[in-house]
Amino acid sequence: MINNLTRVISFDKIDNSDLLDEKSKEMIKAFLKIERNYRYALNKMNTKIENMDDFCRMTYAHNPIHHTEARLKSPDSIIEKMKRRGYDISFESLKENLLDIAGMRVVCNYINDIYQIVHLLSLQKDIRVKVTKDYIVNPKPTGYRSLHIVFEIQLCLADGEIWVPVEIQFRSLAMDMWASLEHELRYKASDMVSKEEKELLRKYSDSLYEIDLGMQRIYIDKTAGGGRRDD
Ligand code: GTP
Ligand code: MG
Repeated sequence: MINNLTRVISFDKIDNSDLLDEKSKEMIKAFLKIERNYRYALNKMNTKIENMDDFCRMTYAHNPIHHTEARLKSPDSIIEKMKRRGYDISFESLKENLLDIAGMRVVCNYINDIYQIVHLLSLQKDIRVKVTKDYIVNPKPTGYRSLHIVFEIQLCLADGEIWVPVEIQFRSLAMDMWASLEHELRYKASDMVSKEEKELLRKYSDSLYEIDLGMQRIYIDKTAGGGRRDD
């Protein structure tokens, strides 16, 4: 169960806001009525992922997942993103265009673990893959690496069945380290990062990728060889 997802925002507060236009107010009020569905979806996905990790531990004596994080997009960032992208400000448009309202980050030990978890998830009957962006195979020009997948997960509610999008960023520990430090640098001190430093950050991402592959090769060698010791 994910604990930090509860949020109470009163409709009065929205109605009285001077910062929001009428369309944004209507959209957010409609969204808040179904926000709990995104919370259920995150909790269900989190449980599934814990199950996958347990299954791998029992079957292969290896936990693929190092840790997970989850968050619900706030009304402020929903409005900010919809305006930035030029989407129509309406509840229908929000449901159709914003696929990362429920978001998770799954940090794995090895790169192979990422693809194994994704494979296991996509075999589940109540999960389907909607969008895949593989920035591990095709890193961003910044050097950013992660596998982004929007899954849809089925919820059986009192009044029927629905499919809710959940965006998951899958990364290795090394990719997570790079992304969190680079994010900090870019958002907190963007004018101070020179062209040369950006080039260095990209190179460090490549080096970490080499290390990821190297560590994985050692792990595969050790486990395939039955844990042989050379010392
Ligand atoms: P958003 O509007 O930001 O959601 O963009 P998008 O929906 O096109 O998704 P995209 O595939 O670009 O991924 C966006 C998310 O990935 C960001 O919110 C970050 O968490 C992460 N991300 C993408 N590019 C970078 C990057 O260069 N550096 C870091 N640190 N994170 C990145
Ligand atoms: Mg996104």
